[in-house]
Amino acid sequence: MKDIGKPGKVQRMKRKGLGGIVCACLLALSCWGCAGDEKNQAEELRVGVLLYNQDDLFIGALKQEIDGCFRETEKREGCRITVSYFDSMGNQITQNEQIDTFIEQGYDVLCVNLVVRTDAAAIVDKGKKADVPLVFFNREPVSADLERWEKIYYVGTDAEEGGRKQGEIFLDYCRARKSADKNGDGVIQYVLLEGEPGHQDSAIRTESCIKSIEEGGVELERLAVANANWRRSQGKEKMAGWLDEFGSGIEAVISNNDAMALGALDALAESDLAELSPVVIGLDGIEEARAAVRDGRMAGTVVNDARGQAEAIVALATELGKDEIPDIPDMKDRIIRVPHKTVTQ
Ligand code: GAL
Repeated sequence: MKDIGKPGKVQRMKRKGLGGIVCACLLALSCWGCAGDEKNQAEELRVGVLLYNQDDLFIGALKQEIDGCFRETEKREGCRITVSYFDSMGNQITQNEQIDTFIEQGYDVLCVNLVVRTDAAAIVDKGKKADVPLVFFNREPVSADLERWEKIYYVGTDAEEGGRKQGEIFLDYCRARKSADKNGDGVIQYVLLEGEPGHQDSAIRTESCIKSIEEGGVELERLAVANANWRRSQGKEKMAGWLDEFGSGIEAVISNNDAMALGALDALAESDLAELSPVVIGLDGIEEARAAVRDGRMAGTVVNDARGQAEAIVALATELGKDEIPDIPDMKDRIIRVPHKTVTQ
């Protein structure tokens, strides 16, 4: 991988932003998959990847998978792919400037994990002007922005499915263990940790999780809800406050992701209610959460398939880099939604 923003002097597949004639000549000389001498000297694809915040545990895992998939593609296709990353550190203005930098430096394709998912329009317009295709991922642009140009794609998941699978784990767990209803009142009292407000994976996961539990016949009572912005530290802080407020009245913790669920477990471990063992459900399937499922501190998690999403992102970027119209199984309206999987003991 290259240092961010410092691409080497390379021969590229395409040099976007140069005059049309130059661009057309380079394309003709360097089309992906050319045989013979041309292959070694000209085949290079340059991909810029922008992450909303690399400190996010799931995004960190996704970045690793993206890296791995590009390396595998390089070997498989016998080509050279330069991948450079920018961390936008939670600032959309910074990300827009980073997009300008990649475009000025002649990158062929940009993969964008938006900071503010409703703010894609300016980025789309930049890509369109320079004819640099965009693969958005994880933070879904609104459909009006996805329709602004035909060289825009999105890779993510179905948030409704993720929440529903959480609900199924919760139901199975409570049905198998009557003791989950600790006070025996026939209702599970729960606290809810939500991701960022406005993120498609927050409200939708919550709604479908709660709906599937209630439809499955387990009655719920919400004690409290708070946004912990996907963060372990914030999940811990919220849970510590709720333990002070509700004590052993908390029978379950439903979390929109694993990091916040792990934060709730941290707070529990540091409290004098460490033995409480509420039903804790997360989502992402990150390694530490899987370990917590194995040792019984979490009832389960749902895998937000980082590998599957990385494969889709890399396949799209590679085909767009060849100036081909991507033909990827299960893609609909330029959107790929990678299915979730369930992890329980
Ligand atoms: C979600 C994921 C969260 C967080 C968020 C960032 O899909 O479950 O853990 O990474 O994306 O946008």
